[in-house]
Amino acid sequence: MIPYGKHHIDEEDIQAVVDVLRSGVLTQGPAVEGFERAIAEYVGARYALAVSSGTAALHLAALAAGVVPGRSLITSPITFVASANAGLYAGGGVAFADIDPQTINMSPDSLKAALKTTPDVRAVIPVHFAGLPCDMPAIRSAADQAGAVVIEDAAHALGARYPDGQRVGCCAYSLMTIFSFHPVKAIAAGEGGMITTNDEHIYRKLLRLRSHGINKLDDPFEITEQTETDGVRNPWYYEMQELGFHYRITDIQCALALSQLKKLDGFMARRRVLVKAYDEAFADMAHCRPAQTSGQDWSGHHIYPLRIDFESAGINRTQLMQELKLRGIGSQVHYIPVPAQPYYRRLGFRPEDYPAAQNYYKEALTIPLYFDLAEEQQAHVIASLRDLLS
Ligand SMILES: Cc1ncc(COP(=O)(O)O)c(C=O)c1O
Repeated sequence: MIPYGKHHIDEEDIQAVVDVLRSGVLTQGPAVEGFERAIAEYVGARYALAVSSGTAALHLAALAAGVVPGRSLITSPITFVASANAGLYAGGGVAFADIDPQTINMSPDSLKAALKTTPDVRAVIPVHFAGLPCDMPAIRSAADQAGAVVIEDAAHALGARYPDGQRVGCCAYSLMTIFSFHPVKAIAAGEGGMITTNDEHIYRKLLRLRSHGINKLDDPFEITEQTETDGVRNPWYYEMQELGFHYRITDIQCALALSQLKKLDGFMARRRVLVKAYDEAFADMAHCRPAQTSGQDWSGHHIYPLRIDFESAGINRTQLMQELKLRGIGSQVHYIPVPAQPYYRRLGFRPEDYPAAQNYYKEALTIPLYFDLAEEQQAHVIASLRDLLS
């Protein structure tokens, strides 16, 4: 079976994990810090904080940004539910800004409209869909004008660059950026996430929130008489100063991710070759086209989403997915618009309020894209689609 996405693990990755297992330190050790430093350096941010998942990263980022009851965040309707859920976890509200049909990313014009109609927006969470960077200068300027901060959801976009050449994650246009290291992502940790920022105050807050809200680094104590006995610091003493979480990640996961990061540029180069071959094949294929039609050169190429006119092709999506499966090809839909989910409908959202997202969803199909996808396998995917859509 050719899946729609898959990680690539080699002997070096395995050895890196074995080394941690033999080292005696399984968590809160040097691999976590090493991975954080490597990501900060790779993307060009001052601080990087590793956490247990991309979802945990979004939750902490929303809290650190100041999403609280009475304040909201705005994100894209075409994302994984976690981008929106972060606002609800933080006790705040959620709103959506419709997508640009050329990029499937949040449209800056829709964002401006949503900022006008949503009260007390604290954060905007653009999602770099499939790895394609959003129009960050426009999004940042709209957020600034509304007094909101920007948190980039770059779960799909490790390795991507903005048109100005800087790497996604450098936080040139945002207060924080989050990544995910789930196995279908650019690099795998098993599960894992990261938050990057250039703001020391935010970094310190994230550090505390990752570990129960307990003070970290040289954070001052609140109860000063507990800190010392006869001028000697009490070695057992710590303070929980706010309500935090246990969102730490292990050294086992970070050693794997660090080993993977060394191969990221190679992963990206292979994905680019595969994407180019797909783009060429679909340029003249009936009833189907690449979903993202501008800015592709900058993308992290996390997935390859197509738009298929099922009606004119005379086959529905279920039939097509079944036929592909019979030919050994996996496919998926990214994503069902979040406002269409039952939970969000119960909160009063209506998918028809986001027509560009709805139109995209009707036509969306993600086809296989990953480092180990062989030329013959890709040719089989293309030939099967040509056959089934003709
Ligand atoms: C856009 C987006 N944001 C956030 C997440 C959450 O990441 P994780 O699965 O690591 O919690 C995902 C995961 O698929 C995602 O695709």
